[in-house]
Amino acid sequence: MPVPLLEARNLKKTFPAPGGAFAMGAASAVPAVDAVSLELAAGETLAIVGESGSGKTTLARMMLRLIEPDSGELLVEGRDFLAARGSQLRALRREMQMVFQDPFASLDPRMRVAAIVGEPLEIYEPSLSRADRRTRVVDVLRTVGLGEEALARYPHEFSGGQRQRIGIARALILRPRLVVADEPVSALDVSVGAQILELLQNLQRDFALTYLLISHSLPVVAQLATRIAVMQRGRIVETGPAAQILNAPAHPYTQSLIAAIPALPASAV
Ligand SMILES: Nc1ncnc2c1ncn2[C@@H]1O[C@H](COP(=O)(O)OP(=O)(O)OP(=O)(O)O)[C@@H](O)[C@H]1O
Ligand SMILES: [Mg+2]
Repeated sequence: MPVPLLEARNLKKTFPAPGGAFAMGAASAVPAVDAVSLELAAGETLAIVGESGSGKTTLARMMLRLIEPDSGELLVEGRDFLAARGSQLRALRREMQMVFQDPFASLDPRMRVAAIVGEPLEIYEPSLSRADRRTRVVDVLRTVGLGEEALARYPHEFSGGQRQRIGIARALILRPRLVVADEPVSALDVSVGAQILELLQNLQRDFALTYLLISHSLPVVAQLATRIAVMQRGRIVETGPAAQILNAPAHPYTQSLIAAIPALPASAV
C-alpha cells in the first residue's frame, strides 16, 4: 500500500476549561480531539462529519499544524511533520491550504482581489516579478471561473459564491497537494453551494488534489467524498468508503445522522 499523504496517529487536544483552571465549579476540560488516528491517501476526498462541537475543525487545524496537538504523531508521506522546522516546515505548509466556511469573513475587505489572491505568492515566492505574479493570479482566477476584471475589485463587490471562488483561488495559487475545506458551502444558498462543490470536483480532477472536507451536511459529503470519517465528541466512531457509510452505517450515531436527512440525492446512493 502506498504511504499516506498525511497520517495522524493518536492526536489529542484539550483546550483549557472555560473560566480558567482555578474558577470555582469549572467543569474539568474535555478533550476536543481524543486519540484520533486517520490516514489521508493522495487523490482521495476524505470527509469528516459530525455535529457541532465534535472536534472537526480542531482536528483539521492540527493536521495542518495550525494548532499543535497535546500528543500524538503527524506524518507527511511517512516523515515526521511535528518535527519539521524552518524551511522544511515552510515547504510542507505551502502544500497544504485551507478553504474556509465564511467567504465574507475570511477575505480582508480592505484588499483588492489581486492582492488577496497574490498574497501567498508574495510570501512564498518573493522573487517573482510583478508581471509574473499578475499572470499567476489571472490564471488561477480563470480556473475558478472569474475573469481579469476581478483583479481591481474588493470582496464586497462580489456575491457569496464568487467570494468563495476567490477564497479557493487564494488556496490554489501555491499549487498545493492537499486542500482542507472546512464547511465550504454552509454559508451559501443550496444552488450556489452546488456550483462550488462542482468546481471543487473539477479542480480536484484537473490538479490531482487531495481533499479533507469537513461538513455537517451528509448530502454535501455524499457529492464529494470517497471516504467518510464520522466524529462524535472528539473521537472517530466510524470510518469507511462513502457508499458504505451512507448506505449501511454501522454505528448508531452515524445511523442517527443519516436518519436526520430528508432524502439523499439519487446520485449519492
Ligand atoms: N480555541 C479554542 N479554545 C477553547 N475551546 C475550543 C477552541 N476551539 C475549539 N474549542 C472547543 O473544542 C470543541 C470542538 O470544537 P470544534 O470547533 O473543533 O468543533 P467542530 O466539530 O468544528 O464544530 P462546528 O461544526 O460547530 O464547527 C468544542 O467544545 C469547542 O468549544
Ligand atoms: Mg468547525
